[in-house]
Amino acid sequence: MKLKLKPALTRRPREMVNKMASAVRRKVRRHPRSLKLKRKGPPEALLGLGRFVANPRRFGGFVSGPALATAITAAIDPAAGPVLELGPGTGVFTRALLARGVAETDLVLVELDPMLAGRLRSAFPQALVLCCKAGSITPDLLEGRRPAAVVSGLPLLNFPADEVERILAAAFAVSTPDAEFYQFTYGPRCPVRDHLKARLGLIARRTARVWRNVPPASVYCITRR
Ligand SMILES: C[S@@+](CC[C@H](N)C(=O)[O-])C[C@H]1O[C@@H](n2cnc3c(N)ncnc32)[C@H](O)[C@@H]1O
Repeated sequence: MKLKLKPALTRRPREMVNKMASAVRRKVRRHPRSLKLKRKGPPEALLGLGRFVANPRRFGGFVSGPALATAITAAIDPAAGPVLELGPGTGVFTRALLARGVAETDLVLVELDPMLAGRLRSAFPQALVLCCKAGSITPDLLEGRRPAAVVSGLPLLNFPADEVERILAAAFAVSTPDAEFYQFTYGPRCPVRDHLKARLGLIARRTARVWRNVPPASVYCITRR
């Protein structure tokens, strides 16, 4: 799905973000102790909205809720080895991975937006944060880490087919042979088309339907055949 926002349509959300940011700043000035936002920056939803306005196609849409973060990380075995996260954005899934017991040193976070990548480096100093396209990762960039699982917050439905192919090929090339790739979607079926899965020798199964997310989402586990 291609999302083309005309200038007139993008102006409104930008104004909304500016208004909300001013309100937060006013509140912080009045209650600097109770709201520690001055030091930590804007809350996730506001930050996500700002990044969405800046680049709607790349950010995709909504910051995922805790139920989706739990569902997409539910089968990750913290003892299995490094975990590769694609498009971590504001770090919602990253925090769920840590809550599952994955060591911060075992996290490889690939985020294209330099501003978000910088925030991830500060929030998770022991993780390896790569600021590049997910489709361009190589074993060298991962500095010897071989992920046993991949968690993706990428809005794959917004991407052209050749980019989706590069992302999957690169993720499976740097991972262990039996690595599982977890992807969520708001769509009615797996966001990786059948012909592409066939070409790359992959299969997919739905592992969760998350109604308590805005909007409701599904999680797919993609593996080599
Ligand atoms: C919808 S956000 C997901 C954030 C978070 N995981 C969540 O679900 O709330 C998608 C993120 O993917 C990043 N992104 C988009 N295209 C990318 C690419 N090709 N490689 C790496 N990151 C990308 C965006 O900058 C954005 O932060």
